[in-house]
Amino acid sequence: MGQVLILGTGGTIAGTGSDPHRAWAYRAAQLGVAELVAAVPALAGVQLRTRQVAQVDSKDMAWPVWQAMAQALDEALRDEAIEAVVVTHGTDTLEETAFLLHQLDDGRKPIVLTAAMRPATAPDADGPRNLLDAVRVARAAASCGWGGVVAVLHGRVWSGAQVRKAHSHALDAFDGGGAAPLATLLPRAEGSQSAAADAVWEAGAAPWPAGGGLGWALLRQPEAKTPPRVEVVFSHADADGWLVDAALRQSADDARASDPQGRAQALRGLVVAATGHGTVHARLEAALQRAEAAGVVVWRSSRVARGGVMPRDGDVWPAAGTLTPAQARVALQLQLLRAQTEPA
Ligand code: SIN
Repeated sequence: MGQVLILGTGGTIAGTGSDPHRAWAYRAAQLGVAELVAAVPALAGVQLRTRQVAQVDSKDMAWPVWQAMAQALDEALRDEAIEAVVVTHGTDTLEETAFLLHQLDDGRKPIVLTAAMRPATAPDADGPRNLLDAVRVARAAASCGWGGVVAVLHGRVWSGAQVRKAHSHALDAFDGGGAAPLATLLPRAEGSQSAAADAVWEAGAAPWPAGGGLGWALLRQPEAKTPPRVEVVFSHADADGWLVDAALRQSADDARASDPQGRAQALRGLVVAATGHGTVHARLEAALQRAEAAGVVVWRSSRVARGGVMPRDGDVWPAAGTLTPAQARVALQLQLLRAQTEPA
């Protein structure tokens, strides 16, 4: 069997605190990825490599970190010695990174994200189990010839296109926005010495989703130096479009001040986190029409936790399907970036 590469990016899984009885008082992104691996004895027999790509609290996730991850994944997927990649990440923006990687990936090898809700110093730390599970899943998928992006958290495997954080502090914090997990993991066999020896998931595990196939190189294009600016606005009681109009004014000022083409700073897209199945307050809708008239692309997602916004005949603005507003923002960024990089 080949090696599993573990890419460390920070998060609570790498977090430490000084008082184990106050698990919430800690700093994320303190331990290196090699230390995370060393804390899981069952990984000792597995052929692993580690690489620290970033060390961030994922609330601060940023485009340059995603670019570094895309570069590292591109290199790893080309390396014949590596059969699968595990990415340790913070839980807060895991759904955005998972979706981004899913869109770029072409499904050649398994890419498994994992995270933790408790820091490494907590008595009930969930990171070691999640990391072990992620490696088990990565190896099992590689041996089935499956590729694609998934997240392994709290004993379940979620599609990278659908996973989202659904609870702010419970250990079982993720779901698929209404979609079932791809698989539920079996406990490791009693006395098992190896992460690879056990059956990993219950029979009937769903095949993994094919990636979007946009290619890792997209984030290295000259146009990708600064990502297209896409913002999210909420539809809510009294949503009168004040923020949208303010953003349009600021965008026009920024564009005049710096980039003569106005491309880097100008507002290029707006994702509305709409009510219910994609409805928008009438006054916000009027402001979004003004934005559209100014060249801003508008998409609708839902602020409701499950179900999303399905396309319907006569839609004025595209529906983001099952994507969360944060994932829809990434999808629109990638669409705009592709349009910039493709020859006219
Ligand atoms: C983070 O997202 O980096 C911090 C919170 C977490 O991982 O649970």
